[in-house]
Amino acid sequence: MLPYQSLIVIEPNINVPIYRQIAGKLVALIQSGKIIPGAYLPGTREMAAITKVHRNTVINAYNELVFQGWAEAIPKKGYQIISELPVLKPRSYHPEVNFSNAPGADDIYFDRSLEHYYPGALSTVPKIIINDGFPDIDTVPFEEIMREYRNIMRAGTLKHMMSEHYDGGTPNLKNSACHFLNQTRGLHISPENIMITKGAQMAIYLASAILLKPGDHVVTCDPNYFMADEIFRRKGAIIHRVPEEHEGMDIQQLEDILKRVPVKLLYIIPHHHHPTTVTMSANRRMQLLNLVEKYQLWIIEDDYDYDFHYQNSPILPLASADHSGRIIYVGSFTKLLGPSFRMGYLIGGKALIKQANSYMRLIDLRGDSIMECALASLIDNGELSRHINRAKKLYSKRCDDAATLISNKLTHALAFHKPQGGMALWLKFKPEFPLNQVMDKAVQQGLYLAGSAYFQAEYKEVNGIRFGFASLTEAELTQAVDILEKIVRR
Ligand SMILES: Cc1ncc(COP(=O)(O)O)c(C=O)c1O
Repeated sequence: MLPYQSLIVIEPNINVPIYRQIAGKLVALIQSGKIIPGAYLPGTREMAAITKVHRNTVINAYNELVFQGWAEAIPKKGYQIISELPVLKPRSYHPEVNFSNAPGADDIYFDRSLEHYYPGALSTVPKIIINDGFPDIDTVPFEEIMREYRNIMRAGTLKHMMSEHYDGGTPNLKNSACHFLNQTRGLHISPENIMITKGAQMAIYLASAILLKPGDHVVTCDPNYFMADEIFRRKGAIIHRVPEEHEGMDIQQLEDILKRVPVKLLYIIPHHHHPTTVTMSANRRMQLLNLVEKYQLWIIEDDYDYDFHYQNSPILPLASADHSGRIIYVGSFTKLLGPSFRMGYLIGGKALIKQANSYMRLIDLRGDSIMECALASLIDNGELSRHINRAKKLYSKRCDDAATLISNKLTHALAFHKPQGGMALWLKFKPEFPLNQVMDKAVQQGLYLAGSAYFQAEYKEVNGIRFGFASLTEAELTQAVDILEKIVRR
């Protein structure tokens, strides 16, 4: 007899009735060839003793097998596995790890350059994690989010939602987001101009997927948000780079490229550039808008963290200016509520949004309608704006603290400018402090530098990393800078 004791282990903490668990395990044994067609199952009394359950539970499990067509009850003999099943070669009794023999990375078409650099193995939980520029989770209005989420689940709207088809987001979030974006960013959009996405990342992907053909020319800044680079590369685009300077993209160099090649798309992050945090000056924005008209370019304007600007009021996006409709505006709620809230948006002309909706359906049929409705309520009842105002004060102070600490202790080893907004600093280490070494040494001292780091492949010379300050207390900031100071001590 098979060692049923070790093969049928009941899991008390899962929400599956015991008879169904037993039936499921028996089916798996039949499917793997360990119980062969025509075999008799142990008697119900015996199986009850083996599995330490009531005999009726075993009877229910066996009847479930009969019901599913795996076994039949033979009067006076017991339960027999039906003999018409194909005979499978029995495999070992060791617990199977189904994917242990799966093809390795070399057999899969997926670019290895997408693999991130992680500083040495994390043997202990780090004392401090410096992220890419995420909000402080403790400030996020979770209670309010949960209340709205619960209300939607309760209100009997779920049934209604199941029969609805939402193109590019629930109508209430599209409405509320339009209202919010028109008010805060000077846009003039209506729901047909917006599509809700899972973060800004998906919006960049969708816009690129519907605009770009292999061989199209794309211009980006140098350095550029590497995850956008990767999308353009995957679409087969030819990427041209224009240096990012203290005032933003070098417009003269951009025009030089525009004169030479038929550029299809320009990807820019003018408000708080990633990775450098630079805000593009008003003057360069005007020049850029002129070029967009002159050369009939498409632009993806990535405004992933517009809402936190500290030195003055935020500069309105290019998309809010008078333009011919070729600016695609991309943004996110993830920088307001935390990266796990996958809510962002794509904004553009009606035809573009329609195409993006069709494309989206290939990967996601519905979106997260319940969370979308909860977010719409947070916008409508003013909770989101109150959260932004509260968080802005806190992050502004943390930005000052981080800049002061770094100026006082680290400027012999790195260069940085205090940004006008956003949630990260851009630290460019001098070449004598290679970033991978700094990151490895830091992790050994309990400081995990998890921000986007630019020191590999084409960004070898950059040697820079994003230092998210918004989620760190003053004490954590001080401790983090002290650790870095020790590492780069002369
Ligand atoms: C410049 C830039 N664009 C887009 C994104 C994607 O943001 P989301 O989390 O909303 O997908 C990020 C993420 O940090 C980013 O830095």
